[in-house]
Amino acid sequence: MPNPASLTSRDPVTALRAFFHPASIAVIGASRDPSHIGARLLDTIVSGRFQGALYPVNPHAAEIQGLQARPSVQDIAGPVDLAVVAVPRDAVLSVVQDCADKGVRAVIVITSDFAETGPEGRAAQNRLVAMVRKRGMRLVGPNCFGLLNTHPTARLNATFGAPMPPHGSIAISSQSGALGLALLTTARRQQIGISSFVSVGNKADVSTNDLLEYWEQDLETNVILLYLESFGNPRRFAHIAQRVSRRKPIVALKAGRSTAGRRAAGSHTAALAANEVAVEALFRQNGVIHARTLEELFAIGTALAWQPLPQGRRVAIITNAGGPGILCADACEEAGLLVSELSEALKATLKELFPSAASIRNPIDLIATATPDHYRRAVSTLMADESIDAVIACYVSVSSADSSEFARALSLGIHEISAGRRTGKPLLACWMAEHEPGGATTLRQARIPVSTLPEIPARVLGQMTTYAEWLQQPDGRLVEFPNMELAASRTLCREAVTRGGPGWLSADDTRKLLLSAGFSLPAGGVARTADQAGHIARTIGFPVAVKLASRWFIHKSDVDAVRLDIGSEAEVRAIFQEFRTRFASEHPDDMDGLIVQPMLKGGVEVMAGMTVDSQFGPLFVFGLGGIHVEILGDVQVRLGPLTDKEAAGMVRAIKGARLLEGYRGHPPADMAALVELLQRLSRLVEALPEISELDLNPIFAFPPGEGYCIADARIRVGPPAP
Ligand code: COA
Repeated sequence: MPNPASLTSRDPVTALRAFFHPASIAVIGASRDPSHIGARLLDTIVSGRFQGALYPVNPHAAEIQGLQARPSVQDIAGPVDLAVVAVPRDAVLSVVQDCADKGVRAVIVITSDFAETGPEGRAAQNRLVAMVRKRGMRLVGPNCFGLLNTHPTARLNATFGAPMPPHGSIAISSQSGALGLALLTTARRQQIGISSFVSVGNKADVSTNDLLEYWEQDLETNVILLYLESFGNPRRFAHIAQRVSRRKPIVALKAGRSTAGRRAAGSHTAALAANEVAVEALFRQNGVIHARTLEELFAIGTALAWQPLPQGRRVAIITNAGGPGILCADACEEAGLLVSELSEALKATLKELFPSAASIRNPIDLIATATPDHYRRAVSTLMADESIDAVIACYVSVSSADSSEFARALSLGIHEISAGRRTGKPLLACWMAEHEPGGATTLRQARIPVSTLPEIPARVLGQMTTYAEWLQQPDGRLVEFPNMELAASRTLCREAVTRGGPGWLSADDTRKLLLSAGFSLPAGGVARTADQAGHIARTIGFPVAVKLASRWFIHKSDVDAVRLDIGSEAEVRAIFQEFRTRFASEHPDDMDGLIVQPMLKGGVEVMAGMTVDSQFGPLFVFGLGGIHVEILGDVQVRLGPLTDKEAAGMVRAIKGARLLEGYRGHPPADMAALVELLQRLSRLVEALPEISELDLNPIFAFPPGEGYCIADARIRVGPPAP
């Protein structure tokens, strides 16, 4: 018998081809009862006009839906490329085993009651996966709705009842069968072209990551839509998505943002409760476009498939009524687009084209008497103008006129321009004419994305622009720093864990660890006695700042354990004694000593930190210190490891960045040093995975060229806090 591993490949592109382009399919569990799922599968494949050989398998029937049935897949004379399995759960393993013996390499298991239902189902799923892997097969599902490939040479609809959408360039992966069905139904109704669709179910073997790699190479696919409820391996997703996004846009909708949603997702597909902040960072860092709703997912996907990417953020809005134009303008600005005043030259050109009552500003209000020709001229003039990167056309049906005429006018307007040259400018439409769907249909036929609400094209355009900008940026680099003694940091950290067990490091160990990794800390140190405290203060010079060194009192200010501007040795000694009485009289361990450091003056207070997410790994945070982080939550979050690009992006993207750049007499901060600090932090955490939490707060950022100084720090080692 040949080695099964040699018959197939774990390379997703080769292995997954059999799912999308099978020459022959067996439907195992094709029921005699037409209402059963197995029968519906067979029926959908037949009505989809599948181009290859089709074999129903059922031990109790000789014929199903006019096709000869076989008792087992092994009784089929010819080869079988793909098996679709819809038998009760307890029969699945032996059926898939038969498939392996028959040489079938691709199996879709529709059957539910596997890992999504509890330990017993999980055990059954584990046995199934073990067998599939051992026999060199690939498995989609279990607990899935099937898959679909619209390519004319395949015409494969192996779902139980989804309508076949038109052939096109959008690929969809859905972790929910029902939502997959909803998306396909919308695609069919709106005539939006789909290349292929996969309901991944429990993702026991074929994962979203595998599909991304397949679609990356698939010539039929230009845009990838993902409906996700959980991440199997977020780090692999990051790696693959970053590469794929450079070639084809990925739009993802992640369900389970709310606690209740996560709970539901957990029971639905055994999803892990992914942290929303981590998901946001994961998508942003890897060029994945984050859709917030199902409608947005589809609208962004369609716009990317049909329209060019914008080259900039300047948008012109055309409307025939004030309200929609204003709402659209508001949504554009919220999405970071610029709805700027039109240039004088452009205004002059437009004034010539429209009646005097029209408002030639931005939004351009052509008023209720606008004609299709007005729309055509507006589109062609705006699209041709150098100062405009994209156009949104809003139309409200205010008369009994057929809105198709207006829709055709938009299409004509673009063609007047693109006949000469490719404009590279997207046109999106908001069509408020629901009683009369002809206009929307005409727009879709002309590949102009259309929605019924004015906010949607604005949000879609905002996302397209962000993606276009991401594409322009080069990949970030991971930087090594010569003055990091990571071996020493590691020894220090491990010794501390051996000594004190997991938990917060002492102030002394924290200081030593950060110094070994090359961070900038103030002079001074941790005193164990009043004498030592006095000595350190004398050495660094007055005034000094003193703080309780304790592994238990984390928020020192809350317990009045931070004293600033201390001017004499006597005062330092007195504070030492006071703290000892207050914090260590009952539990000597509560006070490790007294931190004595110089008073840091000037600069901007910022903070940096890291926590480890059990699924996503290290999450880095940067923000302005003090109330900005605690009350305003003005922080930027990224997943590690931090490249130079990500670190710089974090520093620049906080709302308070203007303060760092120097605002109204406030001196600017050494942003380059802060960017370096973040990268150094990332490198430290990567080298010392035992660090589970870390807070550098406050950090004093001095003027450019003068660096920073970490005034307070805490580091937790061992398992993350519950
Ligand atoms: N080989 C071939 N056919 C077999 C078989 C085997 N080893 N064992 C049973 N069958 C046949 C049965 O005889 C039956 O045909 P019949 O109706 O002509 O007798 C057919 O397979 C189906 O079996 P049945 O017992 O009728 O099951 P069912 O159709 O009620 O349910 C599933 C089967 C798979 C649909 C069901 O177990 C299930 O998992 N449903 C949920 C699916 C789902 O929701 N998936 C996720 C979507 S997002």
